[in-house]
Order: sequence, then C-alpha cells, then structure tokens
Amino acid sequence: MPRRLSEIGEDVDERIPLPIGEFARVLGGGIVQGSIVLIGGDPGIGKSTLLLQAALQMAHERRVLYVSGEESERQIKMRALRLMRGEESKPLPLPEDLFLVTETNLEVILEHVATLQPQLLIVDSIQTTVLSELESTAGSVSQVRECAARLRELAKTSGLSVLLIGHVTKEGVIAGPRVLEHIVDTVLYLEGDRFQSYRLLRSVKNRFGATSEVGVFEMSERGMSEILNPSEAFLAERLVNIPGSAIAVTMEGTRPLLVEIQGLTSPTAFGNPRRTSNGVDLNRLLLIVAVLTRRLGLRLGDQDVYVNVVGGLKVSEPAADLAMAVALASSNRDVPVRADAVLIGEVGLSGELRMVGQLSARLNEAAKLGFRTAIIPRRMRRSEPLPENIQVIEARSLRHALEQALIQEGT
Ligand SMILES: Nc1ncnc2c1ncn2[C@@H]1O[C@H](COP(=O)(O)OP(=O)(O)OP(=O)(O)O)[C@@H](O)[C@H]1O
Ligand SMILES: [Mg+2]
Repeated sequence: MPRRLSEIGEDVDERIPLPIGEFARVLGGGIVQGSIVLIGGDPGIGKSTLLLQAALQMAHERRVLYVSGEESERQIKMRALRLMRGEESKPLPLPEDLFLVTETNLEVILEHVATLQPQLLIVDSIQTTVLSELESTAGSVSQVRECAARLRELAKTSGLSVLLIGHVTKEGVIAGPRVLEHIVDTVLYLEGDRFQSYRLLRSVKNRFGATSEVGVFEMSERGMSEILNPSEAFLAERLVNIPGSAIAVTMEGTRPLLVEIQGLTSPTAFGNPRRTSNGVDLNRLLLIVAVLTRRLGLRLGDQDVYVNVVGGLKVSEPAADLAMAVALASSNRDVPVRADAVLIGEVGLSGELRMVGQLSARLNEAAKLGFRTAIIPRRMRRSEPLPENIQVIEARSLRHALEQALIQEGT
C-alpha cells in the first residue's frame, strides 16, 4: 500500500563507517546499509587491493564476506598479508571476521550469504559471476544484468551492503549493459596511469551523496595509501624556471587540485606535425593550438606539439586551458613561466579568457601551497570576495595573460 510521506520512517540512510577516509568521502561518508556500489577500473589498477583493504579494516567490527571469481583464496591471503605488513615489518593482526571464498555461481554465493549473514559482501567481479539458470556465458550482457539485479534485490530486502567490482572495456566504460549503472546505487571509477603511482577514485553516480567527488591514493607495495594533500604531491617533482611548465588549478568535485601542465613544441622531422596529449582531451589541445596560431601568431604549423599532465592525472575542465596555452607558448618561445604563479581560465576561440566557477576555492588552495600570484580572467561580476593572501592579476585576453605569465626576457 502507498503510504503518506510523513508516515514513512527516516532512519533509512544508516551508514557503515569506512576507516579509509578518502574512500568514505567519495561515497558521501561511509557505506549506506542496504546499498549496492559498483567500482570499475582498468585491469591491474588496484580495484581488488582497495576493496580487500576496506574489508580488512571493516572486519574488525563486523562480518565481511569477500567472494572472488578471479583469484584463489591463497592468493588473496597473500595479498592480505602484504597489506597488513605494517610498520617495521611488524604485521598488524588479521581481523577475525573476514571470510573468503572463491566462487562464481551466484546461487552458491547467495547460500553463503544466508549461512554467514555478513553485513558487507564484496563480489570480485560482477563479470565472473553466473546464474546457472541462464544459458549465456559469464560476462555476457544478460548474465551481468541478471546477477546485478539479483544482488540488488538481496541488498534491498536484507539490508546487506554490497560492493561490486566491474571490469571496464577498452573505451573505459564498465563492461556490460549500460543498465548495470542504473541497477546500482553508486558507481565509482578507479583511475590512474598504470605507470604512475597515483590513483583517483571518482564517483560518477551516487544516490546517497554528491557526485564528481574524488579521493586520491598512492599505490605502493603496502596497498593504497590516502593522499591527504594531493596538490602538494602532484607538484613535488616540479622544476621551476624551465620553459614549458605551468600550474593549473582544477576542481575535482568540491576539491581544488593544483596540477602541473607541461607543453613542448619541437620542429617536425618529417611530414605532418604531430599533436599528442596525455591527460587532456586532444580536441581541447587542437583548439588551443589553433588559437595560439591564429590569435597570437605563434608558428606551430611546422612544430610537433605535446602536452602532458604530471602525475598521470586526467584534466577535463576548461579551467586548465590557460595553463595549457601558456605552457605551450612558454616552450615555443623558450621563456619560463613565473614560478610563483597559477593560471586559471578558459580560452575562447577569439583568444579571450572566460571566467570559471569556484574561483575563491581555487585561489585559497593556491595560496595555501605558497603561490603568490594568480592570473585569472577579468571579472565581470565582483560579488565573490577573493582571498587576500594572493595577488590576483586579471587578464582580458590570452595575449595579456601571456605577457603577465612569462618571465620577461632580460629581467
Ligand atoms: N608485491 C607487490 N608490490 C607492489 N605492488 C604490487 C605487488 N603486487 C601487486 N602490486 C600492484 O597491484 C596491482 C594489482 O592490483 P589489483 O589486483 O588490486 O588490481 P585489479 O584492479 O583488481 O586488477 P584486475 O582487474 O586484474 O583484477 C599491480 O598492478 C601492481 O601494481
Ligand atoms: Mg582484481
């Protein structure tokens, strides 16, 4: 029977605390009871590691069942021992209430859940689980969809929280039907460059919290450790006063992040000049190159152009345009960018600079890390008060910003 809104109880959003702070924040603060969360990511990026770590921490307080269809129990035990090695090789105690099983048949998994009555179930991965009543093979669209739907039913009726691991396809989306993302309450992606140690946990859908929230981790032998001050980490290896490097301030969810954007232009050896981007959208790079060529008169037609975001980060915000443009111009002219400046702004096709959101959060973060100058677009509305501990230079155009950003020759 339909019930009046006012008569329905309010204690639905009860959360299981999650001791990994960055993980909890991305979820909106702990795992909601009876919710089902999907975590996707490239092979080897650290999905199993992160969830085993969460399981190890949570099983001190409650019963956790970790079901793997991909690795043997011994393999998982070895990983657990590695993760729990602790400081000075004094191992931390293994939790009593963490149960492991290698199983792919969902009916059997559901039986295990019924006998063990865990509070948290981890399934690694949804692509390996099968319902024997279906004809199709593991990982097929119907298997993935049915298995997820069955697990959701279990979560909603019993209050069990479920964490699912999902593989991603070559295109970077979770393998299986798009409906998989509708079935679950929350979808997280674990991203990062395989050859770099930073990992970003990003929420793309969340029924219980804000999306586009990001957690930053560093992957090491002892698993994923939280990075509480990511901007500092991303700038750690920066060389100052080298041409072709500029600092952008992007927003990842509610958190500002300072990143170094590197640009390099170099004469084309043969044939067509190359444009290569790592960490920024190639189309964005082409646009910036076109603006630099047409509006600023940079000769890039016979130059290969490369852009790289340091730390394996992916930056999709137009707010990083200005830093990208300045890094390229700096490399092309062989003049370094002022070391104490951050660059914020979107570049338009006419070479104008456009304002971006959350300016004061960005400036505060830059000031906190010791930057003394920020070059930003000219402000039309002056409603938002800006922090006072950083000098703000408002630039009308990319040309103007460039004059301010590059160290003048001979000084
Ligand atoms: N002994 C070790 N020391 C340091 N790092 C290790 C060690 N063993 C594994 N790793 C790291 O852990 C990563 C594998 O992590 P994990 O198995 O959690 O990834 P995954 O996302 O679950 O991958 P898959 O999709 O293949 O299951 C490896 O790429 C490697 O970087
Ligand atoms: Mg795995």
